[in-house]
Amino acid sequence: MYKINIEHLRPGMVIGKTISSSDGIVLLSEGLTIKEHYIDKLIESGISEICVRIDELSEVKIIDIIQEENRQTAKILTKQTMEKINMGDEFSTAKITEIVSTIIEDLLNDEGIILNLSDIRAVDDYTFDHCVNVCVLSIVTGIALGYDKEKLLKLGVGAILHDIGKILVSQEILNKPGALEKKEYDEIKKHAELGYHTIIRHTELDTSSMMVILEHHERYNGTGYPAGKKRNEIHEFSRIVAIADVYDALTSDRVYKKRICPSEAIEHLVSMSNHDFDHEILEKFLKHVTSYPVGTMVLLNSGIRGVVSGKNNDYPSRPKVKCIMDQSGNKIKYNAELELIYHPSVTITKVLEDIS
Ligand SMILES: [Fe+2]
Repeated sequence: MYKINIEHLRPGMVIGKTISSSDGIVLLSEGLTIKEHYIDKLIESGISEICVRIDELSEVKIIDIIQEENRQTAKILTKQTMEKINMGDEFSTAKITEIVSTIIEDLLNDEGIILNLSDIRAVDDYTFDHCVNVCVLSIVTGIALGYDKEKLLKLGVGAILHDIGKILVSQEILNKPGALEKKEYDEIKKHAELGYHTIIRHTELDTSSMMVILEHHERYNGTGYPAGKKRNEIHEFSRIVAIADVYDALTSDRVYKKRICPSEAIEHLVSMSNHDFDHEILEKFLKHVTSYPVGTMVLLNSGIRGVVSGKNNDYPSRPKVKCIMDQSGNKIKYNAELELIYHPSVTITKVLEDIS
């Protein structure tokens, strides 16, 4: 199985992982052969990337770090909470706290977590997928920092709710393709304070979780908003969520920009370290994200094209690669899988959009 951008999808390819909407409705099931009109439907639904299956890669499984049903439940609960906030209705965060607790159990059960955020997401579903991904990335960082379960829960709840204020700003500006004018950007910026003031009025959440909603756009060097807080003036949870938020935004397709691949996003974060982010926290974070998640199509320095088929927990940049095509573009017929850790002269030179 490998991940492919919708632009490269062709009739005859077989779906490798079921595609569902944010409401949990199955759009296309695993094993289905792609037909021309499915591609149109996927484009219409805003799906930008899907997993496809080819015989040579039947054993390459893209496994999400958290159980699919937990991801769906978390997305639905986040959506419902935001809808209630939008209507001005009363809401409770008890169910959200419960699902975050389940996600923490999922993550604590995975030894040597290397994130493979392989969820298939639609552009218009961005907010809810983003909330769940930021929650997962933050919890993993909290685990790396040695947090106990109680602390992880407070962090995770703050992380999943970090952007709830976005429902209270202009959706037209929020989804505007292209660059924002200053006054439009100022409107978006309000979401941090709006979210904080809403949650403080309506729930009994721990103060540390609420601080995440208020402070996740503060920057380590004081250039963030809303208050321009610096370094340790910003709650540690908010410093974690700030990194997770930027990483997930960079690696997601948005209405106004195409995503960049994990290796570029990691470079970007490192270049911002110590200015925008707490570099000690960033270091922990980077131990658990990989530039090359399972299912990534790559070009090796030997000219061979392949797909990342397994991770290396100690050296995430040296994964296992299943070789698919030789230097001349011919399919490799024998079973060739390289564990890059044992082949020091072989390096990944590029992440590819399509294998052919
Ligand atoms: Fe935000």
